[in-house]
Parts: sequence; structure tokens; C-alpha cells
Amino acid sequence: MSRKLSSTSQEGAPIQRSNRLSTFTFLISVAALLSVLATPFTPTFFGPVVPPVAEPPESVIDKQSVLARCAALKAVPGFAQNPSPRDQSDRFEAGTNATWIRNGIIFTGENNGTTVIRGDLFLDKGIVKGIGKVSKRMIDNAPNLTIIDAHGAWITPGLVDLHSHLGILSSPILSGAVDFDSTKGPILPWLRAIDSLNTHDEGYRLAVAGGVTTVQVLPGSSNPIGGQAFMVKLRKTLDGSASSMIVEPPLNLNMAKVDRSKPVPWRHLKQACGENPRRYGNRMDIMWALRSAYSEARNLMQSQDAYCAKAEAGLWGSVSGGFPENQKWELLVDVLRGKVKVSSHCQEAVDLDAMVRLTNEFQFPIASFHHASEGWLVPELLKRTWGGIPTLAILATQHRYKRESFRGSEYASRVLADNGIPVAMKTDHPVLNPRYLAYEAQQAHYFGLPPHLALASITSVPAAAAGLDHRIGILTEGADADVVLWDSHPLQLGATPVKVWIDGIMQIPVPSKTGENNHIEVGKGKESDEWRRVPTVPSWDRERKDAILWDGLPPLDVNKQSRVVFTNVKKIWKKGSDGNIQETLVPGASGGTVLVEKGNIICTGENCVDMTTESNLVDLHGGSISPGLMSYGSQLGLEEIASEHSTGDGELLDAFNVNMPRILNDVGGVVRAVDALMFGTRNALTAYRSGVTLATTALAKPISLSRGHFVSGLSTTFGTGSKHAMERGAIVQDVVALHVVLGRSSPLLPKSVSVSTQIAALRRLLYGWESTDKETGIWFRKAAEGVVPLVIEVDNADIMASLLILKADVEDKIGSRMRMVFSGATEAYLLASEISKADVGVLLNPARPFPTVWDQRRILPGPPLTNDTALVILLEHGVTVGLGVRNAWEARNSGFDIQWAILESNSRISERKAYALVSSDLEKLLGVRNVGEDADLVAYEGGGLFDLSSKVVGIISSRREVVDLF
Ligand SMILES: *[C@@H]1O[C@H](CO)[C@@H](O)[C@H](O)[C@H]1NC(C)=O
Ligand SMILES: *[C@@H]1O[C@H](CO)[C@@H](O)[C@H](O)[C@H]1NC(C)=O
Ligand SMILES: *[C@@H]1O[C@H](CO)[C@@H](O)[C@H](O)[C@H]1NC(C)=O
Ligand SMILES: *[C@@H]1O[C@H](CO)[C@@H](O)[C@H](O)[C@H]1NC(C)=O
Repeated sequence: MSRKLSSTSQEGAPIQRSNRLSTFTFLISVAALLSVLATPFTPTFFGPVVPPVAEPPESVIDKQSVLARCAALKAVPGFAQNPSPRDQSDRFEAGTNATWIRNGIIFTGENNGTTVIRGDLFLDKGIVKGIGKVSKRMIDNAPNLTIIDAHGAWITPGLVDLHSHLGILSSPILSGAVDFDSTKGPILPWLRAIDSLNTHDEGYRLAVAGGVTTVQVLPGSSNPIGGQAFMVKLRKTLDGSASSMIVEPPLNLNMAKVDRSKPVPWRHLKQACGENPRRYGNRMDIMWALRSAYSEARNLMQSQDAYCAKAEAGLWGSVSGGFPENQKWELLVDVLRGKVKVSSHCQEAVDLDAMVRLTNEFQFPIASFHHASEGWLVPELLKRTWGGIPTLAILATQHRYKRESFRGSEYASRVLADNGIPVAMKTDHPVLNPRYLAYEAQQAHYFGLPPHLALASITSVPAAAAGLDHRIGILTEGADADVVLWDSHPLQLGATPVKVWIDGIMQIPVPSKTGENNHIEVGKGKESDEWRRVPTVPSWDRERKDAILWDGLPPLDVNKQSRVVFTNVKKIWKKGSDGNIQETLVPGASGGTVLVEKGNIICTGENCVDMTTESNLVDLHGGSISPGLMSYGSQLGLEEIASEHSTGDGELLDAFNVNMPRILNDVGGVVRAVDALMFGTRNALTAYRSGVTLATTALAKPISLSRGHFVSGLSTTFGTGSKHAMERGAIVQDVVALHVVLGRSSPLLPKSVSVSTQIAALRRLLYGWESTDKETGIWFRKAAEGVVPLVIEVDNADIMASLLILKADVEDKIGSRMRMVFSGATEAYLLASEISKADVGVLLNPARPFPTVWDQRRILPGPPLTNDTALVILLEHGVTVGLGVRNAWEARNSGFDIQWAILESNSRISERKAYALVSSDLEKLLGVRNVGEDADLVAYEGGGLFDLSSKVVGIISSRREVVDLF
């Protein structure tokens, strides 16, 4: 099938004004524009429709141009109207070689992702020229041909992220470029994200390294209508402008020069409802703001239609004035005319209902609902959206961070798909790292989304929702040459692009600018065929049904047992007394039997129990039993909903900003996380069900985007599955480590105390100048003496260097050996050898870095951008490393994080080492005791911790003398 587009103009070339537009009409438009601009801006949103300005006598009305303009109102946007063939992309850059990719498995994105072609792909002139079998003529006709042998690897279209703030909230975030939403009013359809698009966002190359080639740049969701969105490609253009990144730019980017003879591209708009726009009132206010705006637009549309009806009927005598127009409302008129792909950020059923009612009142379609945490609970409601079923752009496991996302579910993608609703996975960059869009699809697939739909959810589905599936998100003749060649099946965890092209131009491997070696090793250890297959995943049918039955909040109770026999167990991994993990095979053909009593393994092997008398049999189907993981770094156990302070511990006092209350009688106000623990939070219970049986939590929050608290007190270790603090084994260690937070001011908040002041304060406290009558004196003394670890939240290498020097000074002065640990530690790899020499530990958090703020800007991204990851460098220098998570909802994904760590290391990190990163080494760094041989064990069905085919079915706890079955 060949794809066609009539537009062949070069990107960035001036748009020619149609010669059918007379100079006179042009002047009228300019006058109209000036008149609009002269209208005083009102922060309320319903300015009057600007009356026609010029009042020309009938004799001077340019009938031709009025009729052309009226005809243009009816033009339907999109590719279907442009039948002429396209043999070159409008984005083609002259001098780009043709590329012949041989011998791949090509996922085309077509037919809901069901079409897969084995064979070749031929890219030329910025488009796909051949797919499957490539003709000899095509090859002979390409003078400069780059030939790539895919060796049977997977090829997909470049990934499409339907929800991103790349470029308008660029990395590292600096206050001078936070341009993603406006505070100037609730209804702002005249704002254009492209006017803010930073062309130097660090995020672009990282997203491309994840195979993402096009994103929808959406204004933020703090306004009911935040502005116009744009579909942009992430490669650097020759032209270097923001405009040249837009795919099919709207014709009226320059309102004075609209070429009505050209095909009409789709326009894009961002709307929001629910919590985010609440700075403009409550939910009722938000919906009224939207209704009044659409009323305004409808009035304008009706006056245009009436005007055109007269003109088209030849009633020129009664046509008075110019064509009714208003720059402020023209976009919403286009929405009502069905020419805009509207993205609506709406979360709860109540919000979705209000928005669906709005579409029916004003009769306009919604292309995509975003986040839509409760969308999966109300599929019939979604189907009532005017104009057809929208796509749901959702996140896989990022839920419960605020009230309206509390009922979000990992099963949502599957439930929506079962209801025939298209699903797009997205990153909402910078909420998630824009590089890991495929990881969202991998998780959706793990939790039940069929593989063809999981791949379509990051390619053809989002492309269709943006009205661009004739050219992106698919691979077919005539489609854009945006292509990813993967190191494994893209739904395998950790799948990494080996090569990426955008518009036929190779982006990955990153072309060398200076001729230096740019070969990066990708996918080592994934040579076997197993990696080319769609991963086998467990069944979640029971959990999914429960989730629906309980309206998104299924009970997370356990079935407690004192005697359980696990059958078909293949392997047991246990912690030795040294904390290291030992693996043993259970004898038996398809695995053996393991008897557990009161949380202890009594015997293993084929003849271990008399099966006929056992009542509690759990078949692990070749699964394994291994030690539970520990989560560190988030507020897990201190809060239920991150953004609702009434559900958490509340504000920690910061000695730099307030005088500690006299009642504390302590200058630093050292507090203990153990006093604030909350048990049974959904994030903790979900982590427990994912094999994360322990958590160490501090009151420390990183300074980067929240307000840091210099002295953030003492952390605690607790069992994630416990009911309350006084239950047996609930609190594993009441006091673990002393935590401080050090860093430069957040770019989004008022300036905080200087780094030099923070280090001076730390020096004073560690030198022992605070009385040990007080908590501050006691605990900093213990930290200086190495009795407790001192965990310092710090990302920047320069600050780390100052801390290493401080550590040496303190140790010299008091003759001690401190146990210092850097947490966050994005740039720690730069000082790997010094950190190792100083015997300082490192907690990498997040495990895979992103340069969110300046202090984190020098990330080591790993393949396909660099051979090494920060983790590999630190381990190779002998540093003890643990991995952390920033957010409580992420704790459940710790098992995935260590699989990523192994895969990104090109097999330089063993499974055993990876295990230690979230268990024994993490415990060692934090000083968590007593979790050696009696650590909780996790029973996995259908595989082990390192297999996507596995699922946690129970926890064996000798500490609590029980087996919890799920
Ligand atoms: C082929 O490549 C050479 C060298 O890079 C370049 O000078 C020439 O313009 C290219 N030809 C075409 C048709 O792109
Ligand atoms: C394009 O082709 C020419 C001639 O085959 C070759 O010299 C050049 O390196 C190629 N350029 C790229 C970017 O692959
Ligand atoms: C894709 O799936 C949707 C929803 O199930 C269905 O309506 C549509 O017909 C399918 N399209 C194709 C081409 O199979
Ligand atoms: C990356 O590692 C590979 C394999 O060890 C090596 O051939 C290549 O030179 C390395 N690349 C760089 C930039 O160091």
C-alpha cells in the first residue's frame, strides 16, 4: 500500500500566500488582528466576539476570497483528503543517505498492531520506500546507500509519546525556562506551546535513546484550557528552529499568511479538569469556565456560518462587514468544527462525566483522555463521548500520588482494551523519564495488555489519536522513516534501541562529531532467541476482576497460614549468615516440594512430605523461593496519598528556616521516622505483594523539587505487610541511620540556604559542638564516631567532594571512621575512585538517572549513549551500592529495577550482585541489622525474581512465624 501526501515543500520554507487572497482581504485581516490585539486583555475569559471591523460597501467585498474562506470552513483535516502521491517527506533533509535495513522482524503498527512482516525495510527521502521485499531497482537507484543487517532483530516504528512536556519544562529545570503553563487565566486556547519550545532540552536525546521519535508537547494541566499542543519530532534539524520540529504544522501558525489551498493539518489542544486547575476554583468553576468558553466559540461559529450562508447564496446585498473572526476564539471554533485533536486531562469518573457531557452539549470530539485514573471503571461513560470513543493515554503503575489517582490501576490498560477502548501508554515527562516509554508498555503487557496492543499503545495508537497515523507510529510504504531497531523484543524488560532513525537520519548510535570512537555496546547477553520472543507473563485474571468488583480499591488482605507445602519449586535462594545470597536447586524433575511451618522451611525435596495428608498445597509451576527485597528512598509508610498532607506525617521543620519550637528543646530538632509510621498504606501493601517485604524510610525528601530539610532525622525499617507497629515483627529496627539533605535551591521554589552554609552547619555538628544533652548533639556525635551511618541526600559531585574532605577532617580530628553514605548521588560516578577510597557508600536514587535539576546534570545514561552506567562504574571501583526509589508508588517495581540494572550493564552485573543492591548491600549501607538468615522469603509462581513470567504468590516470614498467601 502506498501512502500519499501532496505537500512536498521544505521544512522552514516560507508558506506562500494563495494568490486568490487579494491585498484588500489581507489588509482587512491585519485590521481585524490589530483590533483584537487592541482589545484590552481581561483575565476573565469571555471577552465579546469582536464585531467585524471594516464595513466595506458591497462593491468592494472580494467575493472570491470570502467564498474561498467559507469553503475552507468545511475542509476536513487530515491525510484522507490528500490523495496525491508522496515520494519525499516534507521533512527530508537533502544529502541524507538511503538506508537498507535487511533481515528484520518488522512490527508495522497496522491493524491494531497485529501485522508483523519478516524482511527488509528501505528508507529514502525521509520515508519508507519499501517493506518486506525490496526491489533491486530501488537499491540500484540509491547512489549513497547505507546497508544495515538486522540479523533477525525486531524493528518498530519510532515510538510516539502522546503526553510530554519536553521542551517546555526542559532539563535541567531552570527557573528561567519553566514555560509549560500560564497563570494568566483559566481559559487560554490562544496560547501555543511552540512559543515556549526550548530546542536544547537535554531530554530530547534521552527520549531518542529510548526509541521515542515524536512527542505531543502539551501545555500543563493547571488551566481548564492550557493552550495549543504540538506534535514534534525529537531530532535536531538543520534549521535549528522550534517550528521546524513540528510535524505537519498548522496552516495558521502565521495568521496573516494562511494558504487555504493546502491540505489542512490537525491542530492540537490541551484541556484539563479535576484537581490540577483548582487554582481557578473548584470542579464546578472549572466546568463553567469551559462551558462559557465553548458558548463564546459557538456564537462566533454561528455568526461565521450565517455570514457564509448569505455569501454562498449570493445574497451579497445582505452580507455586511468582514468575515466574523476573533483571534482568541478561533481555536475553539476549530474544535467545534472538528478540526482539533483535543487532549483532556481528566482523572475521576465525575470529571470524565462532566467532560463527556460538555462534548455532547457542544458537539465536539475528544481525541484522548489523559491519566484518566478512573477511566477503566467507567467504559460505558467513555463511549458516550460525542463523536466517537477517545483514546486513553495512561500510566502503567504510577498511581495513588494524589486523591484523584487513588483508584488508578495496573490492570486499567487491559480492562480498557477488553472494552474496545484504545490505550496509549505515555510518560507525562517529566513525571516519568521520557526515555522509558517502552517500559510503560512492558509493564502494561506484564499486567495483562495483549502484546500487539501493548506495542500499538506506544506507536500507532498515539499516532492515530494525534491524527498522524498516516505517517508516524506505523511502518508502511510512504510512512515517515522513523525507525527503531531493538536489541530484544521491545516488550522484554530493559529492551534498548540499537539504532534509531528519524526522517531517515540516524540518531542512534549518535553520529560522531569529531571522528572519535562512537561505538557503544548494546544488548550484550541477549543473544539467545529467547530474547526475540514476546515475554511470557502471568495471569492476573483474578486480581483484575477483584479490582473491578471493588471499584479500584480491592482489599489487599492476606491469607495467613502456619503450614504450607509449596510444590514444583525449582530453586531456593537464601541469605547466608554473611548476608550474601546462596542459590540451591530443589531436587525433582519439574522442581520439588518445600514444606514451610511457622515461617521456616522444614524440608525440601521429593519425599519431604506425605502429600496425601497435606491440605495447604501451593503449586509454584517451576517457580522459586528467594529473599524479600527492601525499598529505600521514598516516603513509603509515612503517607497514604503524597499530595494530601492530611494523609501523611505533615511538615517537617527545618532548622535553617524556623527556630525549633522551645518544646523540642533541641536546636536541630532530630526526629524519628518510626514515630510517624503508618501501616497498611496501599503503596506498602502493593510493594509487599510484589516481594518487597521491608522498607527503610527516612523523613528526608530530596531538595531538587520539594523543600529539603537539612536535618531530616532518623530512619526506621519496617515490614511492608504488617498491620500496625505493635504487631510481631512489624518494626524491624526503630532507629537506622541519621539523614541530612544537602543541595542547591530548587528551581521551582524560593531560594533556600546556601550550600556553603549547609556544609558549615554539618561541620559544626560533626565536630561535636552541639551538647550531647540534646538529640542533635547525641546523634551527630554518633554519626561522627561511626556508630550510626550518616546518609546525606546529595546529587552533585562538587558537593560530594566537599563532603569527602569534611569526612577526612572529622575523622582526623576525633580519630574515628565515619559511615558516610551518599543518597540520590546522580553524579557520584565522577568521584568513584575517591568515594571508594573514602569508604563511602552510595544509594543511587533513582536507579536510572534523569537530569531533572542542575545538581544532577552530569548523568551517565548507559547504552545506547554510553557503554557504562553509573552503577557499573561505582561497582567496578569497589563502592558498596544500593538502589532507591523516589516515590512510594515505585516501591513495588524494585524487582524490575534490578533487572534493568543487569540488562543495562551488558552482563557486567550478576544476578547475585543485583539482588544485593536492594537487599544485603542496601541493608549494610543503612545499618539495618538482623536480616540475615531469617529474612522474609518470597514465593514466586512460574519463574523467579528475574523472570517476567513470574508472579509473587506468598511471603514466608520466620520473623513473624507465618506464611502470607495472596
Ligand atoms: C552522496 O554522498 C556524498 C558524500 O557524502 C555527497 O557529497 C553527495 O551529495 C551524496 N549524494 C546524494 C545524491 O545524496
Ligand atoms: C553516505 O554514503 C556515502 C557513500 O556511500 C558514504 O561515504 C557516507 O559515509 C554515507 N553517510 C552516512 C551518514 O552514512
Ligand atoms: C482494532 O480494535 C478496535 C477495538 O477493539 C476495533 O474496533 C477495530 O475494528 C480494530 N481494527 C482493526 C483494523 O482490526
Ligand atoms: C564500548 O565498548 C566496546 C566493547 O567493549 C568497545 O569496543 C568500544 O570502543 C567502547 N566505546 C567507547 C566509546 O569507549
